[in-house]
Amino acid sequence: MNTMISRLRTAHDLSDAEFRTLLTTDAYDTELREAADAVRIEHYGRDVYLRGLIEFTNYCKNDCLYCGIRRSNREASRYRLTQEDIMECCAEGYVLGYRTFVLQGGEDAYFTDEKICRIVSAIREKYPECAVTLSIGEKPKESYQAYFTAGAARYLLRHETADPQHYAKLHPSELSAENRKRCLYDLKDIGYQVGAGLMIGSPYQTTEHLIADIRFMQDLQPDMIGIGPFLPHKDTPFRDKPAGELKAVLRMLGILRLVFPEVLLPATTALGTMHPQGRELGLQTGANVVMPNLSPVSVRKKYMLYDNKICTGEESAQCKGCLEARIEAAGYHISMQRGDALRVRKQNG
Ligand code: 5AD
Ligand code: FES
Repeated sequence: MNTMISRLRTAHDLSDAEFRTLLTTDAYDTELREAADAVRIEHYGRDVYLRGLIEFTNYCKNDCLYCGIRRSNREASRYRLTQEDIMECCAEGYVLGYRTFVLQGGEDAYFTDEKICRIVSAIREKYPECAVTLSIGEKPKESYQAYFTAGAARYLLRHETADPQHYAKLHPSELSAENRKRCLYDLKDIGYQVGAGLMIGSPYQTTEHLIADIRFMQDLQPDMIGIGPFLPHKDTPFRDKPAGELKAVLRMLGILRLVFPEVLLPATTALGTMHPQGRELGLQTGANVVMPNLSPVSVRKKYMLYDNKICTGEESAQCKGCLEARIEAAGYHISMQRGDALRVRKQNG
């Protein structure tokens, strides 16, 4: 039988109408999950790549309506890690076996390009075999180029939504979908492994928006796609908006694994926050990356993008142990390799 899912598996595209059916019909969920798992195993085996996440500043000049560290949230207690703090997180992570460090933060003018480059160079000098990923928002192309030259190989910047009108409902007027996309294409052009992504169930999101997201990413061809549910934060304008649904996140994960067979797909902390087995279910539906927290425990509760975020009380070692057990129980294995995207591994021979 030539089902939509078997066609996706053999690298055929679907029409918008077909994606609409997949995104809105319960009846395909089992077939989708099984196909996504099979494709993930074909390309990446049962490996799950670990990335050590260092949330190094929660200052942010932006005011995204969904986000708990938006600048107008006066309740947020702000912090910045020093370069020494960051190096200590890396040292702790290195001993635990991490070979990717993700530096994530709000858009914080204190961290000038010079400071970011100094931090990236210091990490690469001390740990030449480790990859440094940046996730610090929208910047001019020259800044992205400078970080790349300093040794950052990957960059995460979720596009959030490909639809300009929807984008405008989630962000203040000084931000635009157009500039967001410009950043992503600049990053690709420079040679980064690029991560795009979106929240599932963000306020005002429709099925048509999700189809537009798939189409946008088919054009961009990201190496990573970060998706998780929208979860409300009590001190934001979206405090009363409903959270995204588990089923919808899993469905999109499965679809993305089929449309982008070689993409790196994290089972996100937001997914683990919405359901006790959320990350495990994600791994069983195409996801192959987890990003445990390496931030100092003293600041973890301050990097609160949404309410009730998990893993904010645990030491880095505890968090890794917990995840290891969860990953094994779900039927997969931790890989402590750098875990580059397959596209890049093929390029490098
Ligand atoms: N719920 C879920 N995800 C969120 N993010 C920010 N705020 C929330 C929220 N309330 C996501 C955004 C951002 C990433 C770092 O975290 O998609 O790109
Ligand atoms: Fe962090 Fe379980 S994964 S404590």
